[in-house]
Amino acid sequence: MRLTCLQWRRRNSQQQLLWALLTGASALLTLVVLFGPLQSPFRYWGRPPPLVHQMCSDLGSIPRQYRPYAESWLTSHPRHRYLLWTDSGLRRLLARHYPEAANWTRRLLRSRLEFSDVARYYLLLHYGGIYADLDVRARRQLPAYLDSLANRKSAACGCYLGQEPVAHAVLLFGLPWLPSNALMACSPGHSFLRFVTDLLPLYVSRRASALPGEGESRLGGFGANKYTGPLMLYRFLRKFERQRQCKPSDPSCSVCLMEPEATMPYVDPSQRDLLRERCRAALSRRSLLPSLTSNALRANFCAGPGAGAIDWLAGTPRNGNGGMVFAEHDFLHLAYGNRRPSQVLNASQLSAEYPGRVTLVTEELP
Ligand SMILES: *[C@@H]1O[C@H](CO)[C@@H](O)[C@H](O)[C@H]1NC(C)=O
Ligand SMILES: *[C@@H]1O[C@H](CO)[C@@H](O)[C@H](O)[C@H]1NC(C)=O
Repeated sequence: MRLTCLQWRRRNSQQQLLWALLTGASALLTLVVLFGPLQSPFRYWGRPPPLVHQMCSDLGSIPRQYRPYAESWLTSHPRHRYLLWTDSGLRRLLARHYPEAANWTRRLLRSRLEFSDVARYYLLLHYGGIYADLDVRARRQLPAYLDSLANRKSAACGCYLGQEPVAHAVLLFGLPWLPSNALMACSPGHSFLRFVTDLLPLYVSRRASALPGEGESRLGGFGANKYTGPLMLYRFLRKFERQRQCKPSDPSCSVCLMEPEATMPYVDPSQRDLLRERCRAALSRRSLLPSLTSNALRANFCAGPGAGAIDWLAGTPRNGNGGMVFAEHDFLHLAYGNRRPSQVLNASQLSAEYPGRVTLVTEELP
């Protein structure tokens, strides 16, 4: 009797312990289920790692105007590591990890702009993270936006491309949308970046040799857009979507486009008059040439609410829908000018002001 009682008591205390453990675990699970999603609606493997990359030709010639832009990433992404790459750092990355790319970029690219386009695809392929041009300002945590975008699309994206303002795509290029490479966020080894970097050398050399006189015009950086920049990305992305071998639900191969209203809401101020002029022309031709596709695209855009974006000014609240802005591209066009800027950004000072956060990549690879 005593024995059974003791056994019973022992078993009872074991059960109590088990109960306590189970209750604790389920309470913890409830907490995670209830409050986890508040912080991040949709977490999945294959998200871009916490790195921010920016680039310049060399540390001594960054115009001082870029300082608040660089700082905006450091302050709004406190847990991200910030890397500022120079041309020599980028060439070193290619030589060390992609020797065939070090070769073809030297042989086939014609300007600093073309090189900076191509280098950023290899940079994200190798390290992953966020890439932003130096005239792209962070307003809020970009990963929060990317998660919410993935959540709304129910797609676990491993690579997000920025998008040009729709007014640029429609009125300057006659396309319904256009990716931007001024802002991108990808996981390392993403299959779209592999696709782009694998096909680029052939694409650049074929197109360049097909068009006589193209070599000279490319020297000034004209053509970067179609050979290595947004127009190339537009073609490659459509090709990639058609030929994709893996499941779209696999983040290592799915690509999402960031919405321009949230990440690139303002048009290039130097193009604003041209954009307005194109709208006037498209609307006046509307009844004459209704069936011409690009004109119909333009006229429809200009008659719709989207055209209001042409008048939005950087730094001012947007009219209409009160959506949040996470980043903005100010199209400063200062980056690779031939003239040395009169006032330069002191990169070592920036690095000293954010101890342990900034890596200046000139010689040694991180
Ligand atoms: C670069 O590539 C070209 C063409 O494939 C080849 O002929 C040349 O030897 C390569 N150069 C170097 C330094 O590897
Ligand atoms: C840049 O900042 C560093 C550290 O704050 C300072 O030692 C250096 O003299 C500055 N360089 C220039 C060119 O002002």
